[in-house]
Amino acid sequence: MLLTVATLFGAGTKEDASVIKIGVSMPTQSLQRWNQDGANMKSQLEAAGYKVDLQYAGDNDIPTQVAQLENMITTGCKALVIASIDGSALSEVLKQAKAKDIAVIAYDRLIMNTDAVTYYATFDNFKVGTIQGTYIRDALKLDSTPGPYYIELFTGSPDDNNINFFFGGAMSILEPYIKSGKLIVRSGQTTKAQVATLNWSTEEAQKRMENLITANNYGPKGNRLDAVYSSNDSIANGLTNALVAAGYTKDNFPIITGQDCDKPSVKNMIMGLQSMSIFKDTRTLASKVVEMVNSIVKGEKVDINDTETYNNGVKVVPSYLCDPVFATVDNYKALLIDSGYYTEADLKI
Ligand code: BGC
Repeated sequence: MLLTVATLFGAGTKEDASVIKIGVSMPTQSLQRWNQDGANMKSQLEAAGYKVDLQYAGDNDIPTQVAQLENMITTGCKALVIASIDGSALSEVLKQAKAKDIAVIAYDRLIMNTDAVTYYATFDNFKVGTIQGTYIRDALKLDSTPGPYYIELFTGSPDDNNINFFFGGAMSILEPYIKSGKLIVRSGQTTKAQVATLNWSTEEAQKRMENLITANNYGPKGNRLDAVYSSNDSIANGLTNALVAAGYTKDNFPIITGQDCDKPSVKNMIMGLQSMSIFKDTRTLASKVVEMVNSIVKGEKVDINDTETYNNGVKVVPSYLCDPVFATVDNYKALLIDSGYYTEADLKI
């Protein structure tokens, strides 16, 4: 049963209860997933009886996010649900939230260097990375063939704490093969700083991939490139653009990983231009966060399943980790269409 705020407070009518306002702060509207996250959060919170102030911070604009949060704090939000742009840029504004006893839930991305963050709800980000790394290991048959194989590496925005887990998880699988020489990174670019992509930008990823292709003479007629590790779909799309322009086709396409099951990436998987993605059902994350908000409002124990992993520099933030799911062209219909996440028309090529 979905508890409404009215039921939580027993006597109150839904109208009385609707004065409880929850602020939801999302980083950008330019990426599909955050629009879905925002829409799911709003509809599920409203269904539970809350009033919702949903804001998108332009296109990953940090001062806009800070100003929007300030406004949510001063206009009486009881709790803030925040998917941060720069996890370390909110310490000052969240001091105000803490002073007013406003609960702060870090949504998907951890908010760093502040004791004002109360809970964290996300997917198991390290597992995302290990699923991606394992996929590359198995697709290249690293354990059963002599190699060597050639790979380049791409991760996301350096201000997003999640990349430590995505890239860290993937490297926990791939690094031994790089060390042993079975996997070769011709560019030599293997550190997080070298392979990061500011704002998870498709264009930036495409530019870097184009430069790598030129500098290392990668191509169907040039030097071999067997795989490109990408932490998510917006980056994978940039890689695919660059590789198609360099002459690769579905018949010789390097293995490319991704995450989010964004529509363009699912279409690329169907066309053989991306190998896999990770399905993180934003409906699941949203309903978990609504549950957290309900418990906080009622003063009840909040359901968490991790009290060790997410240290934000000041404290280990009690977290709930949802389960990420491996997606390829073989299971996308069951995962995405049968579950009602997308329609057939959404994925029409
Ligand atoms: C999210 C990913 C997303 C990326 C870019 C990360 O923090 O966990 O799902 O692809 O940000 O928006």
